Amino acid sequence: MSAHLETLGRKPRSDRPALVITGLHKMFGDVAAVDGVDLTVPEGEFLTLLGPSGSGKTTTLRMIAGFTVQSSGTIEIDGTDVSKTPPHRRDVGMVFQNYALFPHMTAGENIAFPLEMRKLPKAEIRQKVADALKLVKLDGYAGRYPRQMSGGQQQRIALARAVVFQPRLLLMDEPLGALDKKLREALQLEIMHISRQLGATVIYVTHDQEEALVMSDRIAIFHDGRIEQLGSGEDLYERPVSLFVADFIGESNILHGTYAAGSGDADGGAVKADLGTWRVSPEWAARAGLADGASAAMVVRPERLHLAAPDAEVAAGRNAITATVTDVLYLGSTRKYELRLASGQQVGVREQLGRDEGDWRPGEQVQLTWSHGAGVLVAGRGE
Ligand SMILES: Nc1ncnc2c1ncn2[C@@H]1O[C@H](COP(=O)(O)OP(=O)(O)O)[C@@H](O)[C@H]1O
Ligand SMILES: [Mg+2]
Repeated sequence: MSAHLETLGRKPRSDRPALVITGLHKMFGDVAAVDGVDLTVPEGEFLTLLGPSGSGKTTTLRMIAGFTVQSSGTIEIDGTDVSKTPPHRRDVGMVFQNYALFPHMTAGENIAFPLEMRKLPKAEIRQKVADALKLVKLDGYAGRYPRQMSGGQQQRIALARAVVFQPRLLLMDEPLGALDKKLREALQLEIMHISRQLGATVIYVTHDQEEALVMSDRIAIFHDGRIEQLGSGEDLYERPVSLFVADFIGESNILHGTYAAGSGDADGGAVKADLGTWRVSPEWAARAGLADGASAAMVVRPERLHLAAPDAEVAAGRNAITATVTDVLYLGSTRKYELRLASGQQVGVREQLGRDEGDWRPGEQVQLTWSHGAGVLVAGRGE
């Protein structure tokens, strides 16, 4: 471990989870901003709260930090109930979207601030500030004022200030939201590497799914003040538990219909719609647990669809639907097809170039096929 990490890194204090949230609620008037969140975060995990605007991410983070008082529920950090502890005694570092550096202090003074609050010896403060500047690759910037730095540099300093006192939790609320795409992508990797080097437990908020997929060990999908699904990026993409998650993560083609239950263990039933009947694999049927006749949706990712001639025989184990090609987009490593179903619904297909590419043109009729296992069954609207 390089020297500057030794003074800043986390040493695990226990094998207890770093954060345990139980039954957390927050009402603003009669609006439930957070409506029953339970969450356990192991030490050293990078966990992202991902969801649309207004889904309760910031309110949850602010309750963890202690800036907002919960209506009910408890928050434990490192095994201690901090539900009634004021923010400055919770030992959490925080980075906000809008550079919240003190404008009248230099970068060095900003980073030193939490250490001075904690009354560390002067020599130790000097060393830790120098190490934190090195960590965020801004050694030499100690004397700069925030107004003399770019947005990205200011966020690096904010990060240095948030980690310099080795907090038990590092909380970040859309820290890259105000930066342009290129800088955002560079800083995503940097924040991720720094957190892992330090062994920090991170709760990170974003509404950007790509950012969440790139950075996180696990992602909690927020919807209307609740966690709709918690899992790795792969879990969420490959095994969404609901229409909301399927729609929110990645691109999906969603075929709505009614579920017709299967007749036994090897028969997962089917989704029936005006445009066809599509078989469901027993695994997906078991996961979804829908009743016969329930409103249902089949979710198929663009890369799982295959284009074939309209009269080609459909192989065993595959579903099919007829569509008309509307656009063919060449995207370098992939080719994207936009198609229209007879219902008017648009669907998308992605083909990896260099393997099984067809040569389909706008206006042509094709058959889209997918394996039974590639169609994820979830409850439909009105469930
Ligand atoms: N201080 C507040 N007063 C009243 N309503 C609030 C306040 N803060 C947040 N809300 C409401 O709570 C809900 C969740 O907001 P928030 O946690 O900021 O969502 P997110 O960070 O996911 O965009 C929204 O409906 C928002 O309008
Ligand atoms: Mg927010």
